[in-house]
Amino acid sequence: MIYIKTDEEIELLRENNLLVSQTLAEVGRHIVPGVSTLELNRIGEEFIRSHGAVPAFLGYEGYPASLCISVNDKVVHGIPSSKEILKEGDIVSVDCGTFMKGFVGDSAYTFAVGEVDEEVRRLMDATKESLYKGTAQAKAGNRVGDVSAAVQEYAESFGYGVVRELEGHGLGRKMHEDPGVPNYGARGRGPLLKEGMVICIEPMITMGNKSIVFERDGWTVRTRDRKPAAHYEFAVAIRKDGPDVLTDFSIIEKAINN
Ligand code: MF3
Ligand code: CO
Repeated sequence: MIYIKTDEEIELLRENNLLVSQTLAEVGRHIVPGVSTLELNRIGEEFIRSHGAVPAFLGYEGYPASLCISVNDKVVHGIPSSKEILKEGDIVSVDCGTFMKGFVGDSAYTFAVGEVDEEVRRLMDATKESLYKGTAQAKAGNRVGDVSAAVQEYAESFGYGVVRELEGHGLGRKMHEDPGVPNYGARGRGPLLKEGMVICIEPMITMGNKSIVFERDGWTVRTRDRKPAAHYEFAVAIRKDGPDVLTDFSIIEKAINN
């Protein structure tokens, strides 16, 4: 069942996703060699709570932390740990969710630790751009497949892998609403996009093969070939005049100055 949101509900979703953007910016400022992913989780959780929200991920289906932090070959759902220390050249995908005023925010960003290899930087840039390509298709009258195909075609044009096992989703009072939003698919297929729908688009793109494995902690997803992966996510409302992005990456990019 797909829930159509009123303008007021969309503004509450925007508030949540702006808080997520600010949290990712705050976490991003602390992404330096030597910091542990558990410390980043603490900073994010503190920021969320001090702004009147609760971390949407904590306790979700038993998830044990407030952020998902996925370093290098981890694709998504990495569990923060005091033993995981960032080093120069790593890439770090941080996924963050908030809950306040009855609605959820959910967005993710991949950060570089210092200078990263040029081919890794290209993977990050292409993954973010694939999200923008998908977003441009998020308009009333299109179908989910138009979004999916735009993401897939762009990412695959570089020879990158598009992870199949996980996908984007509707966003509202619950973190995961219908429709599912795969990162691969065919134009003109899938559910019709209508004004008032809000979806999260979240490409998970690998430098090598698209195959992933689920680790024994029950959460962490990593690439089978151990090559790096990137993940960017934001929430988009389908409006009369086109896609309305509720997350603000510019807040994050100002904080890390790029
Ligand atoms: N952004 C992720 C998603 O869209 C967050 C889920 S992680 C969990 O599915 F920890 F909350 F499960
Ligand atoms: Co999501």
